[in-house]
Amino acid sequence: APVRLADYSPWPFALPAIHLAVDIRPGDVLVTSRLDLEPRGGAEALQLRGVDLEICSIKLNGDDVAGDDYSYRDQLLTIHSPPSKPFVLETCCRIDPYNNSSLEGLYVSGGLLSTQCEAEGFRRITFHPDRPDVLSRWTVRIEASRASCPVLLSNGNAISEEELTDGRHAVTWKDPFPKPSYLFALVAGELREIRDLYTTASGRAVTLRLHVEEGDEPYSTHAMESLKRSMAWDEQVYQLEYDLDEYNIVAVRHFNMGAMENKSLNIFNSKLVLADAETATDAELERIESVIAHEYFHNWSGNRITCRDWFQLSLKEGLTVFRDQSFTADLHSAAVKRIEDVAMLRNTQFREDAGPTAHPVKPAEYQAIDNFYTTTIYEKGAELIRMLHTLLGQERFMRGMATYVSRFDGTAATTEDFVQSIVDGAAQDGQPLGFDSERFKRWYHQAGTPELTVQRQWDAVKGELTLELRQSTPPTPGQTEKQPLVLPIAVALVGEKGRIGEEQLLVMDGDQASLTLQGDPGSAAPALSLLRRFSAPVNVQLEQSLQESLQLLAHDDDPFSRWDAGQRLARQVLLARASGEPDATVEAALIQALRQRLNAFDGGGGQDLAVLLALPGTAELEALQNPVDPPALYAARREWIAELGRQLADPLNQLLDVCRGEWPQAWPAGQGGRSLTGLAWSWLAAAGDAEARNQALEAVSGPSMTLARAALRALQPMEVDERDLALDRFYQRWQDKPVILDAWFALEASAPRTDGLQRVQALLEHPRFDPLAPNSLRAVLGGFTANVPVFHAIDGSGYRFMADQIAAVDRRNPITASRMAKVFSRWSSYGVDRQSAMRQAIDQLAAGELSSNTAEVVAMLRT
Ligand code: ARG
Ligand code: ZN
Repeated sequence: APVRLADYSPWPFALPAIHLAVDIRPGDVLVTSRLDLEPRGGAEALQLRGVDLEICSIKLNGDDVAGDDYSYRDQLLTIHSPPSKPFVLETCCRIDPYNNSSLEGLYVSGGLLSTQCEAEGFRRITFHPDRPDVLSRWTVRIEASRASCPVLLSNGNAISEEELTDGRHAVTWKDPFPKPSYLFALVAGELREIRDLYTTASGRAVTLRLHVEEGDEPYSTHAMESLKRSMAWDEQVYQLEYDLDEYNIVAVRHFNMGAMENKSLNIFNSKLVLADAETATDAELERIESVIAHEYFHNWSGNRITCRDWFQLSLKEGLTVFRDQSFTADLHSAAVKRIEDVAMLRNTQFREDAGPTAHPVKPAEYQAIDNFYTTTIYEKGAELIRMLHTLLGQERFMRGMATYVSRFDGTAATTEDFVQSIVDGAAQDGQPLGFDSERFKRWYHQAGTPELTVQRQWDAVKGELTLELRQSTPPTPGQTEKQPLVLPIAVALVGEKGRIGEEQLLVMDGDQASLTLQGDPGSAAPALSLLRRFSAPVNVQLEQSLQESLQLLAHDDDPFSRWDAGQRLARQVLLARASGEPDATVEAALIQALRQRLNAFDGGGGQDLAVLLALPGTAELEALQNPVDPPALYAARREWIAELGRQLADPLNQLLDVCRGEWPQAWPAGQGGRSLTGLAWSWLAAAGDAEARNQALEAVSGPSMTLARAALRALQPMEVDERDLALDRFYQRWQDKPVILDAWFALEASAPRTDGLQRVQALLEHPRFDPLAPNSLRAVLGGFTANVPVFHAIDGSGYRFMADQIAAVDRRNPITASRMAKVFSRWSSYGVDRQSAMRQAIDQLAAGELSSNTAEVVAMLRT
């Protein structure tokens, strides 16, 4: 039965203190837990969660609990009549982390024991309410053999170390901050440590420790530097400081997600820790920096203030994503970061909002909460915070944040608590708020991407442009009626010489609104720069002429709107080509505009040009196609890239000369030059330029991973000798580094070869393929689904193969399998043949035995 937001009630006990003793033995682990419990209110049975636990003993206030005084069934331990006064419950359980392939709870990854408890993994370690609103002070004693587990880590401070007999030892950890079970962590194994020191603004000395496998020490500098930058940024921008004497980060190879913010003991997917310029791309370095920041920022937005229940997940995730986005914007280019985030939102979150798994930022119910770690909760959630920031401005928003922290520090809060704090803090200056906060809260409950339709009238005599705006949100599964939302809409007029007048912020909160903008009387209609900085996460319906888009592309002072104008033209070109009717006028105009940009470039700041030239993502094109024809879109993209390479050959070659000088610069310097180089190689190679292919091939053996991977991306879609040579050289060079080899697996799996399916099968049998590592599974199976001609083969063979693979993964790792099942989410948008083939694959998956995680996703796909 689903869990419902409306059914929330507090747990009927308080649990102020927990003592855990974890005894690590060669074949199993014994977990003894002592819970200090205090009944709060009426006489109720005590119910604790527990999954796959073998009970050794249960004691209440020191006495064994008799067999008929408790029951353990359906993952629930019930003590029928607990005392009405405070009492101590001690349980001892045996667990088997050595055969736990789910990567939840305590599990083994490459000889290392580590935990993942969010969202509901702690119940696989011992009996516990395992809900985020039960906060306790934890003491954890870990005992193991020193030979196999010299390092024993948990949350908080190490308060004692013991030398025991038989080569065993123990370490006891105490965390002074009350926390829920999902933030518990434990790591035991053989690890190398890299140490550093950070002194906080108020003078606390914090020992920073990064723990990696032997041999990986040289690749830890970037992560450590990123951590220090994150700590300094949160002090400067949010006045939030770290609160303990040590901060640990552990890199593990087998991990379902990116990373986890456990109090003072972050656990990271090793691909998000280990990196330098030779082994990681510029984009990966920036991503690592931002994930390190994200987990660090959780210490306040997540740990000190946590979630009342899992419906509030976006309280911590949306806010923390907003914080990490701001961090990256401050450290690098704010314009480029905003553009990349919008591109990602449109291609993942808008797609989710438009399909069968659409759900609000605050869902009303769920079956498996793991299925809701989505781009809606994270990225759309961050957009809601960003809109509050836009509506209030930096100063008022920050006063709201300070109010939130002072009201809710040390508690488990709700999204309503958050919005109310922001609003109350902002209003301390006595000024009107400027928007209806009750209406704003609708954003949390309403799924779907709003459509903003804009019509306009230009009065040349007065020089006034009048806008008529309407908003509506299309129905989503289980939510047919939609209400108007609060939309902050930033607009300006753009003429031949740039922006005319000031930008305006229209706050729309009903179905309709109108606005008049002052332009130059007597002149031609100016271009409309709408939704500047992407001030609200909506789809815009507005008729814009080619001339207007070109004017914005050339003269708008908002980099997002400039980029958006170019994207609009590129979308037109690609959709027209995919429908078999290329639009020669738009193509010629766009090429001309790009040529001007390329000619004007003389080095430096190349990242802005690189994002401007990047083509729109597949998902956003598919959203505009009916029915969706993936191979036609794929072919259109390849042909257009070749056309760009032919028409712009001269400026692209000049560009390569300019950029070469930036190749050796260390990240973040030089990334613009490297991005543009990759783009030029792709376009020129697609146009048949042998010299570009050669340059690319050489880069695969060079010192920059960014260039090597750009080279592989340029060559990979083509049936040329250099492609196979390049892939082979890359494999030979990196075969002993699993984190890097995953990129090779992904490229191999997505190479559009005629025998693509057999090759993907062979990759799954490859000696270097690790079927228990979600990274490797995502590389091969994710690569395969990006292999458009093979995955979308009209006979349905690609879909059937994928369904079989998902079923196989589901038997070992439901969290990873249920995420993969979402590749079928757009089945109803394809033409009849693909539609029925994909539907059959979904039914085939549904007919087998599925975990509740995957069953929930499959059920959503079938409604
Ligand atoms: N809280 C983590 C983060 O975003 C994600 C952990 C998700 N884990 C899961 N099993 N769903 O930083
Ligand atoms: Zn997070």
